[in-house]
Order: sequence, then structure tokens, then C-alpha cells
Amino acid sequence: MNSLISTEECERMPIARMHELYRRHVSSGQVTLLSAFGFGRDAVDSASGCWITLRDGRRVLDFTGGIGVLNHGHNHPRILAARRRFQELQRMEVHKNYFSPYVAALGHNLSQLLPADLDVSYFPNSGAEAVEGALKMAYKYHRGHRGTVLHSDIAFHGKLLGAGSLTTSPEVHFSFPKIPGTDSFAFDDLPSLRLALERHTTPEGGSDVYALVLEPFSASSLRECSPEFLREARRLCTEHDIVLIFDEVYTSWGRTGSLFHFMRHPGLVPDVVTTSKSFGGGKASISGYVAREPVFRRAYDSLPDATLHSTTYYGFGEETVTALEAVAITVEDDYPARARRLGARLHRGLTTLAAGHPHLVAEVRGTGALHGVVLRHGPAALDHALRLLPSSFARDPQARAKLATAAVVADLYRSHGVLTYYGSNHDLPLIAAPPLVAEDSDVDLFLEALDATLAKGMPRLLAGLVREKVAA
Ligand SMILES: Cc1ncc(COP(=O)(O)O)c(C=O)c1O
Repeated sequence: MNSLISTEECERMPIARMHELYRRHVSSGQVTLLSAFGFGRDAVDSASGCWITLRDGRRVLDFTGGIGVLNHGHNHPRILAARRRFQELQRMEVHKNYFSPYVAALGHNLSQLLPADLDVSYFPNSGAEAVEGALKMAYKYHRGHRGTVLHSDIAFHGKLLGAGSLTTSPEVHFSFPKIPGTDSFAFDDLPSLRLALERHTTPEGGSDVYALVLEPFSASSLRECSPEFLREARRLCTEHDIVLIFDEVYTSWGRTGSLFHFMRHPGLVPDVVTTSKSFGGGKASISGYVAREPVFRRAYDSLPDATLHSTTYYGFGEETVTALEAVAITVEDDYPARARRLGARLHRGLTTLAAGHPHLVAEVRGTGALHGVVLRHGPAALDHALRLLPSSFARDPQARAKLATAAVVADLYRSHGVLTYYGSNHDLPLIAAPPLVAEDSDVDLFLEALDATLAKGMPRLLAGLVREKVAA
């Protein structure tokens, strides 16, 4: 007789039982990793706006923004209502034979909001799928005659084999097989990009590059491409007929202070742009890529190619209706303006904190509601702590950065009930990315907590992290 766990039992499942089931059926590594922080040992009851309520009644301020997913906060009432309506009307989920009014409307609305002729969309379910779909379109645009794709040396495009081939992040430390023809250039570095293009000139003097994939703002490192770099990349792609793909899986829908990050540069238009994360309003796993009309037409617009690229869950009903509502809220409640307001407050506060804790904070980085601090990796206390850790960890070139930032993340949670995370690229900054529904008072709470945490000094913060590890 099978004994299956019901959804009702999940609502009461003790944390020890979750750990046990994760260890047996999901990943024991995840249990070890997350348990080293307080949050890996707490069970969540519910979440609303910027706040998470734990089973024991404690409240946690969520400054991770769901790593890009929660611009609208947890369980936004309009998102819940749109989904409830869809369910109560028993609308149809799968549209493979009949047309979906929601897919039609979402494609239309995106073309209204994006500049120029970025008019044709496809809606898969994850960021990596959107990146790979965009890449395939670029390859097909060139009818398979070109074989090279360029990406930057600081890049996070996802972890599937294709998107992972373009990802250069210390988080992915194992060498998986790559799609053929990838090459990289230094982030935001024009001479390096020009050299990369020259390396792939054909004997006839043409280009072998079918696509250039780029994050205008790198959310994993909080580094931004300069306007000069972006405009010259655009010019070079136009000159060599290379499909320019901006990956805005994280930065779309207001997070950095403009609707899409690239839209702060008037007249700058990629050939394809990707989106995901808050596109789903914190509820739906939906992504998208939007192509300039001529690029789509040449790649796919014929009867034999009508289903050349498709996925089972493409344009599912409730996901799409959620995205429609998420986009409407973003526009009506002016999320870019909210991000600018939160960002200005964060920037002022973090700059003051950096001046007050010069031995710990090396740099304040970011834009809009995607800000962070880079912690100094020099304090002697880190050497002592590294000696206590397994040698495999200490050999990691990022070990010092990880340890310093993890110690701050752990104390913010343990001592102040503030949830943060750190980036996966370039100095691994501690990231503050509040939902865009956050109030000024939430930002102040976060800043006060960070000030008190940094005031403890690195030796005490590291000792706290080690104690948590022992408790785990
Ligand atoms: C810029 C960017 N592109 C692609 C991805 C991959 O998205 P997913 O994890 O949904 O595959 C991410 C995820 O963080 C991202 O930040």
C-alpha cells in the first residue's frame, strides 16, 4: 500500500521532515547549503507584499525580491483576482488547436510597450528557454550559414545546455558540453568586442557571427554596460547583419528604473529582447522573447516553419492571463518610477553606510531597485575562518568573497529578520532588491539592519556564521 503525502499535510509539515524528504528525494546538498543560514531551518506559513510570515508567527522582510520574480510582491491582490477569475470561469488552459485571446493580447500589448518594430513574441516558461529560443531564431535568420555566437565574460543566461554555453559565472564551476561556435569578449569593453568580431571574419570578408547576446545590466554582478558600448554594439551588429539579443530576463518590467533597462537609451533597439521573472507577477512561470518584425519574418514566417520552434507549455492560459495582469499593474502603478524612488533612497543610505564602515564595504553598486554592496575580502578573520572549512571550499577562488558576504546575509536574517542574497558574478555583491511595492519605511528598516550588522565587525559575523553551521 502506497502512503502518499497530501497537500493538506504539506501545510503542517515540520521542517525536520522537509529536510529528511529533501535529503532523500530532492538534494541533500541543498539541505546542507541552506541550513547553514537561519532561513534553511525555518518553515514559511504565508507571504504578502514584502513580508514573509513564518510558522512560529515571526515576520521576515523579503529584500531578495524573489531574485527578480517579485516586483509585485508576494500574492499581489490583482494577480490573485485575475487567476481566480480565470479558474471560476473555467477558461481553457491548453491552446494547441484553438486560438488564445490571451496570447494574442499579450503579443499586442508587448508590441505597444516596446519601441520600434519589436512586434513579434513567443512565450515559453523560463529565462533559459527564452534565451535559447532567441538564439535559435538568430541562427535560422541566417539560414544556418553562420556558426558563431558571441557573449560577454560576465554573463548569466541560464543553466540549460544552450543558455549555459553563454553563461560565464563562478556559480557554474563544472565544464558541461557547449553548443558549437561560442566565443566571448570582456564585459562593456569595446576593443575586446571588436577583436572578437575580427576573429570571426570569413575569408570573403563577411562575418560568421549570427548573434551577439548581452545583458545591458548584469543582475548577477550589478554592473552596467555604458551607453557608448551599447550603441557601438548596435552599430557593429547592424553593419555586419548580426542579430543583437538583449537578455532582460531579470531587468525587464521596471526593476532598474525604466520599463526595460535598454529603454533608458532613446533610439537603441535590439533585434530580440528576452523577458521573464516579474513578467509572471510572482505567480506564473512564463517568459518571452520579442523580435523585430523583419527578423521574425525572415527566420520563421512561412507555413513549413510555423511550428519549427514550440514547447508544450507555450502560452498556457492561466500563465498568460497572469502576465497580462502583471504587465497592466506595472504600467498603471508606474513600477519604473517606484524603482527609481526606492533606488535613490537605497543609494543614499548605502553610500552613507559605506562611509561609516570603510573597513568592510569596498563599493556601492547598482541602479533602481537593484542595489548592493561589495564587501572587502581582505580582513584577516577570513583566513582563520577559511582554515575551519573543508579544503574544497577554501580552494574556490571566490571563497573569501562568499564567506564575507554569507556572514552578512546570515546575520541580517538571524538578528534582524531581513532576507537578502548575493550575486553570482564579479565580487559577488550583497544584493538588496526589494519588491517594487516596498515603502520607504521598508528601505529604512533594511538600512538600519545592515548598519547594525556591519557594526559587529567581520570576526563576530564570521563567528556567528560558524555557530549557525554547527547548529545545522
Ligand atoms: C539575465 C538572465 N537570463 C537568464 C536567466 C535564466 O532564467 P531561468 O533561471 O528562468 O532559466 C536568468 C536567471 O536568473 C537571468 O538573470
